[in-house]
Amino acid sequence: MLHYQILVDRLLRDIRRFIPIFANIQFGASALDLCCGTGEQVLEFGRNGITATGIDINSNILKIALKNKAKSNLENVSFQQADATNLPFRDCHFDCVSISFGLHDKARISRKKIVSEMTRVVKENGTLILVDFQVTLPANISGLIARSIEFLIDGDHYRNFKDYLRSGGLENLIKTQNLREGERVVLKNRLVTAMRMAKS
Ligand SMILES: C[S@@+](CC[C@H](N)C(=O)[O-])C[C@H]1O[C@@H](n2cnc3c(N)ncnc32)[C@H](O)[C@@H]1O
Repeated sequence: MLHYQILVDRLLRDIRRFIPIFANIQFGASALDLCCGTGEQVLEFGRNGITATGIDINSNILKIALKNKAKSNLENVSFQQADATNLPFRDCHFDCVSISFGLHDKARISRKKIVSEMTRVVKENGTLILVDFQVTLPANISGLIARSIEFLIDGDHYRNFKDYLRSGGLENLIKTQNLREGERVVLKNRLVTAMRMAKS
């Protein structure tokens, strides 16, 4: 899993750099990144002057995030172990809450709970950023590689990925929340969608 994550970090470097610009939040604002993995998105928020917190349930991956933080010399980022389906933060706390590639691998009930928790902890009129696979996956080499990588990870991961595709991906998930869509972009050879939403 960690090797997979490190490979993914290389492939996604340009998206990590794009997200703080896409989020369009001010210098000094607060951001929470869920299922943060090795913390690359959190560090990128930090480099853009945003006070960023990353949470992940996996203590081993958080050790890597903390090492990456130490190398970066950033003081405005932090990491903590937490469950994205039950966040230890009060309502309306963050200017921005993001998740990248942290939904397609979860069971349907967890996906819904995570988006509901994101909506709960973001401020009124705050920003939600969701980045994940585009549905339908493109019929090109990127789509084929993504499907193969997901298949190789493990059985649960792949089952959840297929269910994410079947159920309409991000599009369907956001319908259940009180959100206004700001902007969406399709990236990486039509493989990835990034959505910016506002809490209404
Ligand atoms: C596919 S990785 C994505 C990591 C990172 N966001 C990225 O863009 O590379 C999914 C992450 O979700 C984390 N995770 C799984 N279940 C979780 C939960 N209930 N709460 C928080 N993190 C969770 C895993 O430990 C893993 O780091």
